Amino acid sequence: MTGDRIATTRLGETGPEVGVQGLGCMGMSFAYGPSDAEESRATLERALELGVTLYDTADVYGAGENERFLAPFLAAHRDEVVIATKFAMAIPREDVTRRIIRNDPPYIRDAVEASLKRLGVDVIDLYYMHRRNVDVPIEESVGAMAELVREGKVKHLGLSEVTGDELRAAQAVHPIAAVQSEWSLFSRDIEAGVVPAARELGVALVPYSPLGRGFLSGSFADADKDLTADDFRRRMPRFTGDNATANASLLEPVRAVAEAHGASPAQVALAWVQQRAEVHRLPVVPIPGTRKPGRVTENAAATRIVLGEEDLALLEPLADRVAGDRYADMSFTSAGRE
Ligand SMILES: NC(=O)c1ccc[n+]([C@@H]2O[C@H](COP(=O)([O-])OP(=O)(O)OC[C@H]3O[C@@H](n4cnc5c(N)ncnc54)[C@H](OP(=O)(O)O)[C@@H]3O)[C@@H](O)[C@H]2O)c1
Repeated sequence: MTGDRIATTRLGETGPEVGVQGLGCMGMSFAYGPSDAEESRATLERALELGVTLYDTADVYGAGENERFLAPFLAAHRDEVVIATKFAMAIPREDVTRRIIRNDPPYIRDAVEASLKRLGVDVIDLYYMHRRNVDVPIEESVGAMAELVREGKVKHLGLSEVTGDELRAAQAVHPIAAVQSEWSLFSRDIEAGVVPAARELGVALVPYSPLGRGFLSGSFADADKDLTADDFRRRMPRFTGDNATANASLLEPVRAVAEAHGASPAQVALAWVQQRAEVHRLPVVPIPGTRKPGRVTENAAATRIVLGEEDLALLEPLADRVAGDRYADMSFTSAGRE
């Protein structure tokens, strides 16, 4: 399998060395309909064989379930894996269906202890603030996260869905290894402020949902018709109703480029986002989510596809044609605050 192994990169100037593609583990426990635990475990193992070393989870995925699910895998491979988890989406006791964004130091301290316990590890390799609560100064939150580094509970810090200015303020308190934000062929709002700030500060970009939550692979077109009732994508504006109908044609150029390369549409979407590393001159480690070993093999192989001028001419206009926002409430995203 050595020949299939992906290249590595450093996660920002201060971060760990990782495979150039990571694995999003969220769907194994949460958001995207029913999962097969055995198949998900095989996916974790297959990813590691391929040199995928950055595994992404969060405390909120399945209310702790995703972190617990990863614990046996981490116990078996602790030294080979860089585990990233996140805090900030608190689940209130009085209503477990709600989420409140908490960035205050006492909350962060409780959250890290709970994540360490569920993951069954002594230290979290990369600890992200998942969402920003603007009522708490970012310096205060990052200050509390920096204390966790000093105490040896966390190795590196990350932020998700922050603006360029928020990243600069955070970096003044403690080095930030990575920003995790949505970035794909059809979600490019971070290129305006976040990406230039990350490049300026030596921070890596970890694009989440690089397959447009699966849409760019062609595996579904209309969430209401194609996905199960509990699937989170049914609540996302661009995947339902008139927007879904309008967006269906967006896949045509992706399919055309895929055909020209003898590749799949998913691989083209991943190759495009991976190539942003050269375009913007910063480390880029996308974390496609999958629960299937065959797909992890397919996705890792995308790191070897090089898109040329003709391909980019077809793909670049796509983002401007997307109908509908990426979330129903954009105020929690960097774009919503910029
Ligand atoms: N920081 C944040 O706020 C945030 C938000 C969302 C996600 N994330 C993280 O980012 C990770 C990835 O994002 P995501 O899962 O939302 O979206 P994604 O990676 O864009 O897409 C995942 C979807 O694509 C399907 N898929 C994967 N590879 C495929 C292939 N080769 N062919 C066809 N379909 C394929 C998956 O299905 P199967 O699983 O059935 O293969 C799944 O439904 C998550 O797992 C999570 O760790 C972070």
